[in-house]
Amino acid sequence: MTEASALIYLSVASAWLVWVLIAAAIVTPYLFRPTRFAHALGLLGERGGAMLARMRPHMWLGYGIACVIVMHALDAMRAGGFSQLDRTGIWLAAAALVLSLCQLVIGAALAQKRCARRPLLRRAHFWTMIGLVLTALGHTVLNAPGL
Ligand code: HEM
Repeated sequence: MTEASALIYLSVASAWLVWVLIAAAIVTPYLFRPTRFAHALGLLGERGGAMLARMRPHMWLGYGIACVIVMHALDAMRAGGFSQLDRTGIWLAAAALVLSLCQLVIGAALAQKRCARRPLLRRAHFWTMIGLVLTALGHTVLNAPGL
């Protein structure tokens, strides 16, 4: 196997890992909210615990997403062959990378106990998530080999 094809395998594997992590990061905040569903599943423990402490797995998933996206981009760039790829897909990939970094900044503000403007930041975090999913989806459809 050549170095370029090994890098392509790595970038494809990390791309699918990013999707798994994104799905988990989207589901966890709703699972760890004190809803009847979460209580029924026993996800909150006996007394529920503090919301921000319960959100820790979500935060780690968010950091993980940004790391794996950067690894994916570096492997894809080192593999080369960008000139044959759809340009719009590459711009969408760049937008997804920026949005994942924005999620880190907004998420870190939301992770503070005293967060001024929490409702506004929650809305921004939610809509950034929608933007991230749409741009990553566009990039996947336009640039994934075999799709
Ligand atoms: C790509 C990465 C991420 C995605 C897709 C994501 C997605 C979400 C979603 C869908 C919610 C629920 C929003 C709502 O209630 O309307 C949420 C809540 C939250 N996220 Fe993230 N998130 C990401 C990264 C992060 C990171 C890195 C952190 C912290 C360092 C973080 C901290 C939080 C906190 C604290 C909440 C709860 C906010 C509250 O209810 O007050 N998130 N996230």
